[in-house]
Amino acid sequence: MKKYLVIGNPIDHSLSPKLHNHWLKKNKIDGKYDKKKINKNELEDLIAKIRNKEIHGINVTVPFKQDVISYLDKLSPEAEETKSVNTIHFNNDKVVGHNTDIGGFERAIKNTGYNLLNKKIFILGAGGVVPSIIYSLNKMKVSKIIISNRTKKKAEDLKASFKDLIIVDWGKIPEFDMVINATSVGLNINDDLNLNFSETDNQKFYYDVIYNPKETNFLKQAKKRGNLTENGKKMFIYQAAIAFEFWHGFFPEINQEVNRLLDL
Ligand code: ATR
Repeated sequence: MKKYLVIGNPIDHSLSPKLHNHWLKKNKIDGKYDKKKINKNELEDLIAKIRNKEIHGINVTVPFKQDVISYLDKLSPEAEETKSVNTIHFNNDKVVGHNTDIGGFERAIKNTGYNLLNKKIFILGAGGVVPSIIYSLNKMKVSKIIISNRTKKKAEDLKASFKDLIIVDWGKIPEFDMVINATSVGLNINDDLNLNFSETDNQKFYYDVIYNPKETNFLKQAKKRGNLTENGKKMFIYQAAIAFEFWHGFFPEINQEVNRLLDL
């Protein structure tokens, strides 16, 4: 039986096992996908298990997406540029790190039918997933990316990789077509960003990386004002599906049953 893992800390909340085990079963693949809470000093041993084929694939989540890089033999260009690895795969005798958050975000946005070409994007937050989102936005040829983070220094650090980023102070709302909440504010149902978007026009696109709860206050309020909204559920499903394809050689089916698996 082939073994797959998602590693992180914390990891209890991860829904990756649910998705991957569903696809393994549906496709009659003899494999099992588990989650494992680890500490940083366990990364090296785990990667060694990929090399000796004890483990056949690993997903990496916070806070190890960057830390894991030093143990890998090779990175995809996307993983290299974002310094973020969420999928590990053994290929041609090399342990390779990929970033499927980028493709996951791109497919999720395309799936909504919203065209990002020449749009102005405003990102809230500068955490682990943000480099992947910026990479993906640039790929989809947006005209401008403005970013704001409570701790400004973290937003400024991103300019080392993405020099065209525009940084605004936390609390300032610039003109935008699409705004992305990439902060962790909203994970608790009562969380509120306390930002005033009410003076922006309606018909903007509000995207939240969070998918549990389904509708954060950020999305709820935006919808009330007549904006388009989308949560991070499809991004999560697509990043998993792209990882599945690396390991098993085909793209798994995404249907209502898969969608419902993540309804909590
Ligand atoms: P990761 O582990 O993926 O890097 P993280 O570091 O927890 O995620 O990132 C969370 C993001 O939410 C950060 O941008 C964080 O802002 P800071 O860099 O200032 O910490 C942001 N965030 C968390 N709580 C917040 C709050 N109450 N108000 C505004 N931003 C918040």
